[in-house]
Amino acid sequence: MSNAKSFLFVCLVFLCTAFVQAQQIGGANTKSEICFGCHKDQAQDWSTTWHSRSHVDSNPLYKAVVNYMSRITYQPEAGVLVECAQCHNPKMTIKEIADKESFALSEALKIKTAQTAIVEASVQDKAIKDGISCNICHNVAKINETSNLQMRGFKAVEWGSSDTIYGPFEDDGRARIHKSLQKEHFVNPNQLCMVCHFGGERNGIEIYTTGIEYEQSGSKEKCAECHMSTQRQGIIAPGTTKAGVTAKVRDIRSHLFASARNSDILEDTIELTAANSGNNFVVTLKNLTPHKAPTGFGGRSMNVKMEFKNADGSVINTQTYTLETVYADKKGQETIPYLAATIKNDTRLNANEVRKLSIPKPTGATSATINVTYRLASERFLKIINFSDPVFDKEYLVKSINVGL
Ligand code: HEC
Ligand code: HEC
Ligand code: HEC
Ligand code: HEC
Ligand code: HEC
Repeated sequence: MSNAKSFLFVCLVFLCTAFVQAQQIGGANTKSEICFGCHKDQAQDWSTTWHSRSHVDSNPLYKAVVNYMSRITYQPEAGVLVECAQCHNPKMTIKEIADKESFALSEALKIKTAQTAIVEASVQDKAIKDGISCNICHNVAKINETSNLQMRGFKAVEWGSSDTIYGPFEDDGRARIHKSLQKEHFVNPNQLCMVCHFGGERNGIEIYTTGIEYEQSGSKEKCAECHMSTQRQGIIAPGTTKAGVTAKVRDIRSHLFASARNSDILEDTIELTAANSGNNFVVTLKNLTPHKAPTGFGGRSMNVKMEFKNADGSVINTQTYTLETVYADKKGQETIPYLAATIKNDTRLNANEVRKLSIPKPTGATSATINVTYRLASERFLKIINFSDPVFDKEYLVKSINVGL
């Protein structure tokens, strides 16, 4: 090839690549990695959150629950996964298994059919393995408001065009690599969080009630204020400034989606005090959040452990009080939220609730230590599904105090 020809060839390849990128940047099958180079801070934060691990291959508890449901309901695991994908993997191509009976039979007998091949391929799709990725939230063009608690996840949204990123700012063409469009659900992002953190009704039981609890609390504080960060000034894509154009400083937030696992957010869950009241000892818990504590996934719990010591410093009495939800099936047997017919008991703290736990003071006690801990999966829940894992079978410290009696 002559120099001129090869130059043209290189230009052509470059143009094609640019075209393909611009076309696909927000597409259904785009992995988050495509955004990482330009949006390092958002990418780093997001990678620490379990939004990035919302897939059966990255989340051992999710895997164990799906496996348990599959055994109890005689459904293939892939069938359960397609159902749960509504929120956990909302862009999974298969939305429903057309012929459930023949699918279950083929899976049980390990016979490969066109249907099993399609389902396996969509569960194992590379972009799906990215979980709640950049291209889930930033491809939401519209949220359909409805009071139907089953119409959540992908059923609540309209995906946007694949060359456009939806975000909080007015488009001024600065991004160049992608078009962008301002949407109200990024300016006031509560509505975006509610797509998955509100509802998910199953057998008449509301499974994910964080959004409902929040609305009942009357709070005006945004989910993003506590779970992303307060707004701060920053540059969105610092490495991509065009020569001669000054990068715009904007009001931005972290992408931490802060929880017990990647932040110190638990410290802000409750206020803990304790005092004598006659012959009783009273522990006061004040929920500082505008939703229940604990909230979210129905297996979460908090333990309030009171340890009484005598003058020698020996422990003479220990009492534990658990904040959790207990679910039961039709026969009254304890089960997991997704298989429940009733909620047997719910001892979690309501939004902003102040609860006093009053117990008789043990004779001879001269001091008490109160430890409040948080569990991603309660002992009760793990026992039902017969599962253990270092991340989920762990007590995260919320608050600890010592008082003289
Ligand atoms: C769970 C939904 C969600 C996911 C996942 C998500 N974002 Fe965002 N993003 C938001 C919200 C909400 C805002 C607006 C925050 C605000 O200003 O209140 C935002 C804002 C932004 C902004 C504007 C500047 C800023 O940081 O506020 C950029 C850039 C961005 N996101 C990039 C990304 C990238 C890159 C990823 C993947 C690594 C990602 N986002 C994943 C919800 C999400
Ligand atoms: C080649 C670099 C580059 C890549 C790749 C890239 N962006 Fe951007 N993005 C930018 C620039 C530049 C801006 C504009 C910055 C500004 O105006 O302050 C921007 C703006 C944004 C905004 C704010 C848009 C608004 O109007 O609110 C979001 C959200 C965003 N990008 C998300 C993403 C996501 C998600 C991906 C991956 C699918 C991605 N970006 C890929 C460079 C990039
Ligand atoms: C498309 C559905 C979806 C949307 C939209 C969504 N989430 Fe989530 N979120 C999930 C799922 C699913 C999980 C559990 C992922 C896992 O652990 O496998 C989760 C987990 C979380 C967690 C716990 C994360 C951790 O690392 O332990 C927090 C906090 C959270 N979301 C907050 C938010 C906030 C705030 C918003 C709105 C800006 C939001 N989410 C929007 C589906 C969503
Ligand atoms: C005032 C701060 C604050 C606000 C506002 C807030 N939260 Fe929380 N959130 C917390 C704290 C603290 C925790 C940890 C204790 C708990 O579970 O209640 C938490 C826990 C959670 C969890 C469970 C995290 C985990 O480990 O899985 C989810 C999900 C969640 N919040 C979602 C939301 C959503 C959605 C909104 C908005 C509707 C919201 N939060 C508003 C402070 C807040
Ligand atoms: C309505 C949307 C929605 C549906 C449908 C849904 N989930 Fe979830 N799931 C969520 C959200 C949101 C969270 C995060 C709540 C939190 O962090 O406390 C979550 C969290 C979880 C967790 C805890 C993960 C962790 O890392 O701690 C498990 C396990 C789980 N879901 C299992 C399932 C199973 C099994 C199904 C199907 C039967 C299902 N979910 C259906 C929205 C949904």
